[in-house]
Order: sequence, then C-alpha cells, then structure tokens
Amino acid sequence: MPYYTTVPSRPPALRSLESAGSDSVSPVLAEGLDTVYGSQAPAQFERYANALSLFRTIAGPGPAWLFRAPGRVNLIGEHTDYNHGFVMPIALDRDIVLVARPRTDRTIRISNVEPQFEHVSFGVSDEIPHAPPGDWSNYVRGAAQMVAQLAPAAATGMDCLVVGDAPLGLARGSGLSSSSALTVAASIALAHFAGLALPPEQFVQACSDAEWFVGTRGGIMDQFISLLARRDNALFLDCRPSHDGQYITQHIPLPQDHQILIADSGVQHSNVRGEYNKRVASCRIGVAQLSAQWPGITHLRDLHGVPWHEVASCLPEQVTVASALAAGMPIAGIPGLAEDDRLNVRACCRHVWHENHRVLAVLESLQNGDIDAVGQHLQQAHASVRDDYAVSTPELETLVAAASGAPGVVGARLTGAGWGGCVLVLVHQDSAPEAAEVVRQRFRQQHGRTPAIFPCRTGAAAGLVAALSI
Ligand code: GLA
Repeated sequence: MPYYTTVPSRPPALRSLESAGSDSVSPVLAEGLDTVYGSQAPAQFERYANALSLFRTIAGPGPAWLFRAPGRVNLIGEHTDYNHGFVMPIALDRDIVLVARPRTDRTIRISNVEPQFEHVSFGVSDEIPHAPPGDWSNYVRGAAQMVAQLAPAAATGMDCLVVGDAPLGLARGSGLSSSSALTVAASIALAHFAGLALPPEQFVQACSDAEWFVGTRGGIMDQFISLLARRDNALFLDCRPSHDGQYITQHIPLPQDHQILIADSGVQHSNVRGEYNKRVASCRIGVAQLSAQWPGITHLRDLHGVPWHEVASCLPEQVTVASALAAGMPIAGIPGLAEDDRLNVRACCRHVWHENHRVLAVLESLQNGDIDAVGQHLQQAHASVRDDYAVSTPELETLVAAASGAPGVVGARLTGAGWGGCVLVLVHQDSAPEAAEVVRQRFRQQHGRTPAIFPCRTGAAAGLVAALSI
C-alpha cells in the first residue's frame, strides 16, 4: 500500500451568495454561516453581525463581502514543510474573518476589532513598501502585493475590517497560525475583487510567498490547510511539489473515540523571526554540505531513504553564519541572521530527518487504528523539537509533562513553530475533562496562572462566506 493517494484538485471553497439577491442581511448571513460552520453556525451569528455593523460604521452603508480563513494545529510534522517533507495539520473552527468592500481606487484601508491594532492605509502596487517589522499590516501588504503582481491591471483597493477569534487573535501569537489565516483571508478577498482565479495549489503557493513579505521564511503548511481543510479530518501533505507544481495530499479522518485538546501556554511567540530563520538556515547549510556526497539534492527530504548515521557523518555539528556565508552557503537572502550566530546544523537536520519518518508512521498508525502508537510518536516528536530543534519553553514543557501523566492521555507535544504558543494533547474522550483539569492544576502550581485549554474542533476551508448589502 502506498502511503498516499492523490486527491483530485478542487478550487478553494469559495461560495458566493450574491445570487441570493436578498435585501435582508439575516437569511443570507445565516445560510452562509450554515454552510461553513454546520451545527456551530448559530454561535457565530452574533460575531459576524457585530462585525458587519462595525464595518458599516467605518466604511458606510453599501455592499459587504465576508471572507474567512481558519487557524490550525499541527498533529505532527514540525519544521518539515520548508524542507519539502511531510506534515499533518488540522484546521480549527477558530478563524480570522474579514469584512471587505472593493474601492474604486487602489488604496487599502484596514481596521481590526482588536484595539491594539491601529488603522492602516496603503496603496496597492507590485512593490508595496514594508511597514516596520512586527506591524500587523505587513500580512495584508504581502497579500496585496502578490495579487497586484499576478493581476496587475485588475488589482483593486479595499476597505476591510479584521475580526479574530480568541485565542486566534493576532495579538495572542498563540502558534495557531492566525498570521497565515490573515494572509489567506486577505489574499482571497483581493483575488476575488480582482477576478484572479488560480488553481488551488498555485493559490496556496502564492499565499505562502506573500507571507515571506513579513520576513519569516516559512513553508506552505499553514496556507495549505487553511485553503484545503475538510471538517473532521487532518490533512496529510507531502510538501514536495511535483515538477508541474502538484502536491500529494490526503484527508485523514480523526479518531472517533479520542479528542485533541489544545493547551495555550500563554507565552507569545512573536518576535521569533530571527530564531525561525536560523533554523531554516541550518537546514539549508545541511543540504549544501550533504550535496558534496549526494550531488543534486535540493532539500533534506532528498535523503529520506538514506540511513541517518550516513547522513549524520557528513554534517558539521555547528557553524557560524559568517563562516557559512564565506563558504558561499545559500543563506545570504535570509533576513535576521547575525554574523556571529552559531547554527546547530547537525541537530536541526536530525530533527527533520526523524520527523519526516514520524509523520509517515503516524499516518500508518492512524490508518491501522493504533492510537497508542500515534501517542508514542507524538511524544518522540516533542522530545525532538525540544532537544534537537531547541524551540520549546519552560511553560510548554510544564504542559507536555503534565499532560503526559494525565488520565487517558496517549501523547502530547508542542504544536506550531515553538518558542511559546500551544501544546496539543491526544486523549481518550471520556478522560478529556479530567486530563484538562490535571494539566491546569499542574501549570497553576508551577507558573501561578491558569492556562486556557479547549477542545480542538475542526473547521472548514477558507473562502467567501457571504456577500450582502448592509
Ligand atoms: C510556522 C510556519 C510553518 C511551519 C511551522 C513549523 O507555523 O509558518 O510553515 O514551518 O512554523 O512546523
């Protein structure tokens, strides 16, 4: 049995309700929400209605389009995507909503319901100036620049309002990929207004490139799951594109009798651009070193079939950025590196090499219904990001340690890039409340505050929810 099957391409789940032709907001909105959220739709109504009303105050009466893009947790496959490896993310029911209206000029005006984010306005062009690092508008700038490059004549400005969903607020930096959700939502909106229609995988790639605007050299996992999610499923994704840009994906049903809990360490993982990019650089240096032995390789993934000890013997333990640059290693364009940064090349490559094998092992275990094996791989994956990739924190360690000993838990690991954010806990559903309480108590004892712990409910793919008149 191959480890994958090819899922036929389909366009992002865009759904236009313009044809509904209703002059009353409620039925159109209710129908749109129903399609996206199913039985959870009534709980979303007020959030959307408030957003529309606020948008009307900001932009005036007229037409309004509602777009959304979900955040994600990653079941397994951390820091493998930019190495062309395997990942298995799950889209959350928590999402970023964007209320938008195209403008007749090429100005983009963005507001955010979270008060710490200032109103921003900028012009659309194929080379949009950056706001200072850390400025939230950079995600929308990246999206706008991408659409302007792909549809130069049709790219428009827009007025828009961004609505997060705690803990997926941009302010939280909780590692659930609110930033990619914002980039995706803004990209969908601007592409929609420009009439830009790309095949889904090309659109995913474009959104991923758009996010490089902010400086982090991330992979494609977050944009992929946001755009191609299916409720009640994880998405197995092979991040290596074929020569014609196609990816192998498979929707994997989640186990019925187990639940995923998400425990938020409350530590923001903002301002880690340099640390993330250092890991990216370490992997690229690894590939450059290994290509002496294996000519033609481009990513660590190329050595998936080679035993680790053979790979390891060709890798330096550590190099400085300065020496790597002097040797012409391909890290010159990576932002945020300092000449005297020491890069742990061998340990980083070790994590990636083993993590790819773990993703495939989890895929197989899920298909065989061997949940205990899944749990063991999750535990090993956590040890690997902690010890080899060095992206854990004391708070994440407390959560993982507490969860690992809690009733009904089969495995726990930090999810996302690291340096804060959230831990994913796989637990038998009957024990979930008890396990959550054990984790809360242990964390409280250690850190003097109560962490937010919530069940992972899956969400639908990003798209247009409704278009209506307000
Ligand atoms: C961030 C990036 C992703 C991925 C993860 C780590 O979320 O955006 O592309 O690299 O970190 O797995």
